[in-house]
Amino acid sequence: MGFVSLNMSSFMRAMLIVLCAFWILPELAHAKHVRTTRHYKFNIKLQNVTRLCQTKSIVTVNGQFPGDWWKADTEAVINQAIQTGLAPNNSDAHTINGLPGPLHNCAAKDTFKLKVQPGKTYLLRIINAALNDEMFFSIANHTLHVVEADAVYVKPFRTNIVLITPGQTTNVLLKTKSKTPNAKFVIASRPYATGPASFDNTTAIGFLEYKKHSLSNTKSKNHTLFTPKLPKFNDTIFAMNFNQKFHSLANKKFPAKVPKTVDRHFYFTVGLGISVWFMHCHLEVHTSWGLKMAWIVQDGKRHNQKLPPPPSDLPKC
Ligand SMILES: *[C@@H]1O[C@H](CO)[C@@H](O)[C@H](O)[C@H]1NC(C)=O
Ligand SMILES: *[C@@H]1O[C@H](CO)[C@@H](O)[C@H](O)[C@H]1NC(C)=O
Ligand SMILES: *[C@@H]1O[C@H](CO)[C@@H](O)[C@H](O)[C@H]1NC(C)=O
Ligand SMILES: *[C@@H]1O[C@H](CO)[C@@H](O)[C@H](O)[C@H]1NC(C)=O
Ligand SMILES: *[C@@H]1O[C@H](CO)[C@@H](O)[C@H](O)[C@H]1NC(C)=O
Ligand SMILES: *[C@@H]1O[C@H](CO)[C@@H](O)[C@H](O)[C@H]1NC(C)=O
Repeated sequence: MGFVSLNMSSFMRAMLIVLCAFWILPELAHAKHVRTTRHYKFNIKLQNVTRLCQTKSIVTVNGQFPGDWWKADTEAVINQAIQTGLAPNNSDAHTINGLPGPLHNCAAKDTFKLKVQPGKTYLLRIINAALNDEMFFSIANHTLHVVEADAVYVKPFRTNIVLITPGQTTNVLLKTKSKTPNAKFVIASRPYATGPASFDNTTAIGFLEYKKHSLSNTKSKNHTLFTPKLPKFNDTIFAMNFNQKFHSLANKKFPAKVPKTVDRHFYFTVGLGISVWFMHCHLEVHTSWGLKMAWIVQDGKRHNQKLPPPPSDLPKC
């Protein structure tokens, strides 16, 4: 999980965060409808990383590696899954920005800390980068204000807990307390799962910490620790209620221009020449389970059932 937080008071990027499987995106807030091209550098390299008492070499992007953590080599995990036809082995830990947190052996120092100032509003970009787990996410004693999901503004709503599916992104506003409390707040994330399949049932933990005022003479580090209450793994009632809170923003500036009546039903596909179409189930991991199919699409008899030829510069297999 990963997230990026923006301090809305100053409109400055304040920090990068990633959760249980959340990943980091550059700023897209206030994008309005301006067509701009942005350039980013992605430095992709192998790096030795130690987590859960083990070191392995993994691919990192700008030094970051979101997602769940496997002690084993993930290539070996997916290769075994493809050979057996079974689901890949469960991960050993969920992470927040690559950090599993203190509930794991050897991981106390690998704990993500979100440092905030009192009386500010932060924008957290939450991304579920887990392979296959839907995740609950909550910050003790703090309400999250959901304003966006998958790059679409939503009618803002408040919640103590967010539920986010793999590959999904959501932006939430976090309003910090008006005064620095003598407390630390746990950020926690763990799966929502139903059905008989086993899953990584570990909880990723991070801390929300208030920065001490530089003039403050409080030396005390004796913070009370507050923990959030996450729903049970199989709390489908919560999941349903949460998902029903999503509505299009639908205001004057961002209207929901969708047809409200259906007058004709169509089913059509578009392609280039006789093409082989590859279709797979909604999650990429499902392709390794065999939930995929290649379709050979041929022209029909009528003129409008034929596909145009592929462009001359289309690379050949
Ligand atoms: C990772 O560690 C191994 C063993 O210590 C070493 O041979 C290798 O060069 C390291 N790789 C990187 C990318 O640092
Ligand atoms: C997957 O899990 C099984 C059972 O725990 C284990 O025997 C196997 O070695 C694991 N595979 C990989 C690639 O780690
Ligand atoms: C955090 O929440 C708990 C339980 O609702 C409450 O007892 C406590 O006073 C709160 N603490 C702070 C610092 O907000
Ligand atoms: C997680 O799963 C393991 C094995 O499947 C089980 O022994 C353990 O009790 C579970 N932990 C929780 C918190 O549900
Ligand atoms: C820390 O605070 C708790 C109550 O919040 C108190 O019981 C404990 O004695 C304090 N410890 C120290 C070392 O001040
Ligand atoms: C959820 O899991 C608990 C065991 O942890 C079980 O008793 C309960 O029946 C489950 N609820 C549903 C709706 O499956």
